[in-house]
Amino acid sequence: MQRSADASVNLTGTIVRGPFLARDPREERADVHRNLLRRLPRIDSRYFYDDAGSELFERITRLPEYYQSRTEEVILAGIADEVVASTGARELVELGSGSGRKVRLLLDAMQRRGRLDRCVLLDINESFLTGSVEALAEAYPEAEVRGVVGDFLSDLGAVGEGRRRLLVLLAGTIGNLYPRQLATFLRRVRALLGPNDAFLVGLDLVKDPARLEAAYNDSAGVTAEFNRNALRVLNQRFGTGFEIEAFEHVAFYDRERAWIEMRLRARRPTSASLGDGREIRFAAGDEIRTEISRKFTRHSFAAALDGTGLELAAFATDPAELFASALVRPVRGGGAS
Ligand code: AVJ
Repeated sequence: MQRSADASVNLTGTIVRGPFLARDPREERADVHRNLLRRLPRIDSRYFYDDAGSELFERITRLPEYYQSRTEEVILAGIADEVVASTGARELVELGSGSGRKVRLLLDAMQRRGRLDRCVLLDINESFLTGSVEALAEAYPEAEVRGVVGDFLSDLGAVGEGRRRLLVLLAGTIGNLYPRQLATFLRRVRALLGPNDAFLVGLDLVKDPARLEAAYNDSAGVTAEFNRNALRVLNQRFGTGFEIEAFEHVAFYDRERAWIEMRLRARRPTSASLGDGREIRFAAGDEIRTEISRKFTRHSFAAALDGTGLELAAFATDPAELFASALVRPVRGGGAS
């Protein structure tokens, strides 16, 4: 269906801001500082995703070493009709939607069944979110399309009520949560779902560490730029004055914890400011952790669901078992066990 530029303004649907991003900026600054003052300083991975960072992530998804995105796309293309048929979903809620390309495979499947009432996208980057909401409103005129600017861990409540709902979190993004955060997140997902709703989640799988490490140390250096972008974002938002070139990209697989860890390592002595007169000094070799990206097995993911009131309904992988799409549903006849 063709529409004029004027009409598309009305199609954009609502964009609302979740409470976490709308919170007191002083509180957020205090959080950032607290994390930088840990024994192993930390920057939360949500700070990757300003416009430049979201753009860099899009480039990562096209890198030869980064098998995740294209593998998930193939899996989703294969299971979309079955997922929609088995859940009877009429509403799709995508968390951390990014550019919103893969979600179309599911929306197309819902459209084929003639049942696409509503689509809600939640993303931390407002301009990417607005672009996706507009594009989806245009492509699926029968659906009500809404956007929520927010963090998928803190702002899940801002998604609101719905029915016959399929919640999705793609790209292995769930792996960015620490085990304790994961448990909290899964309980919140359970609270959001009605008895007939479902949650479809993308999981990067445990595999040969060399393959994993290559995906986070690409030869074109895009991941390194993405990683350093977190410092740029902190400088812009909080005036931290990090010297970007003083830090080098580090990514390694921790076999025991089954996660990729990204860090920024000071190449030489350097410092950053906390804005209240305090300084943090880095000696050459000092590191900041910027991301963990957990890798799962079917078993470890099922174990993470234990006690959350959710259970594994289906688990699809590619033939090489690089990546998985897990379909999760509320435990029949029960809340959290
Ligand atoms: C978007 C969070 C799934 O963890 O692999 C890509 C982010 N970090 N390269 C991931 C990322 C480095 C990505 N997720």
